[in-house]
Amino acid sequence: NSRPVTLRINGKSHALTLDPRTSLLDALRETLDMTGTKKGCDHGQCGACTVLQDGRRVNSCLTLAMAAEGSEITTIEGLAKNADPKTVDDLSPVQAAFLLHDGYQCGYCTPGQIMSATAVLTEHAKGELSQVSWQSGHSDRPELSDDEIRERMSGNICRCGAYPNIVAAVRAAAR
Ligand code: FES
Repeated sequence: NSRPVTLRINGKSHALTLDPRTSLLDALRETLDMTGTKKGCDHGQCGACTVLQDGRRVNSCLTLAMAAEGSEITTIEGLAKNADPKTVDDLSPVQAAFLLHDGYQCGYCTPGQIMSATAVLTEHAKGELSQVSWQSGHSDRPELSDDEIRERMSGNICRCGAYPNIVAAVRAAAR
């Protein structure tokens, strides 16, 4: 029952033939061998599989590959300024900040954290409000405080508990 599907990933088109039930995560990891995106829970609970779909973060484990056709997917492999990064300068600002602030311990959740943080900075730049801001009655663009960062990153779980450094990295990248 496989069907053809074309996925745009990090600016390149990939013509694939997939079972319609294949998740975007499995298409990335198993079919395309792009293993930078991690599988944690496979149930939308941990955020390890976070990728951007047209700039918005999604859990790729909960997204059908077929449903991603027609949109631009960005994965951790597509984030660096240079496709073959050799120095910190070749990385995206968020990647560099995670490196400089040790925003990880074992590193398994890091690609998801970085993709999520990348989206957080875009959301913030656009003036989109988090739930915390709504609840506290902010009506304008909130400052990206540590509380704000924690709220916006709350879908990304770190089993090592490296949260203080993750927050520090996001704060630094936001400057
Ligand atoms: Fe997708 Fe955990 S693997 S949210």
